[in-house]
Amino acid sequence: MNEEKINLKNLRGKLAHLPLGLIEYYESIGSTNDRAAVLAAENAPNFSIVLADEQTEGRGRSGRSWFTPPGVALAFSIILRPQANIENSQIALVSGLGALAVAKGIKSSVGLDAKIKWPNDVLIDGEKVSGVLAEAHWIGEDLQSLILGIGVNISKNAVPPENELNFPATYLSHGSGKLIDRLVVLEAILQHIVKIWPMVGDSSFIKDWESLLEFKGKQVQLISGKEIAITGEIRGLADDGSLILMLEDNIEKQFKVGEIHLRPNIDKVMN
Ligand code: BTN
Repeated sequence: MNEEKINLKNLRGKLAHLPLGLIEYYESIGSTNDRAAVLAAENAPNFSIVLADEQTEGRGRSGRSWFTPPGVALAFSIILRPQANIENSQIALVSGLGALAVAKGIKSSVGLDAKIKWPNDVLIDGEKVSGVLAEAHWIGEDLQSLILGIGVNISKNAVPPENELNFPATYLSHGSGKLIDRLVVLEAILQHIVKIWPMVGDSSFIKDWESLLEFKGKQVQLISGKEIAITGEIRGLADDGSLILMLEDNIEKQFKVGEIHLRPNIDKVMN
């Protein structure tokens, strides 16, 4: 079943109370992150957004593609202009901002409890409902903009075929059993982004992110590519958003946000 139709007028109306910059809507586009990068290069202000009903070349993390067929998902990107308290080393935290805002937005808009598979996948009942792709754009040494791209599976057809999944996936209307208004979910997520953005880098932000971590206190495996890198128990997050693991030899080690993936320590693993 497809969700309600979006147009620029109902989109603008719904978001009018938020301090956003430009708002663009496309029925179909390659990738909203690519369009947002163009707008950012043209000096679009902080909190400008690009939303699309369909993406034909949606991008995920680690060079994967992101499936966005028409009418069944939320796919949008928001431009963030770096602020004084963001240091280069903290850029990775912006992925956490995305995941935190999605998890909180899902709770406030549809009442479902969502958790974060570190660093930035959002899960409902252990299955991925949303992914975040944060990309930094530089001019020389200066960070010009961060593009935070967010995809949320709203109804069943947003979930790719099983053989294309690298982690079990779900969709929002599955958990709620109701028809979901995508704009209500979008508005809630944006509201949280606007609220949390000034706190990125603060200890309260890290604590908030940590409080929603899936698998906290549980054994997980960290994987780099197809290699199982390490097994340990999740202890929490360090000040820079790194994951703190207690390894098998009782030594704590921190892992930075990067090309490492996490999965529960189960016998049957997904590739
Ligand atoms: C992931 O989990 O791999 C991240 C997926 C990010 C998908 C979103 S959808 C909107 C934005 N545009 C893209 O091309 N990708 C992001």
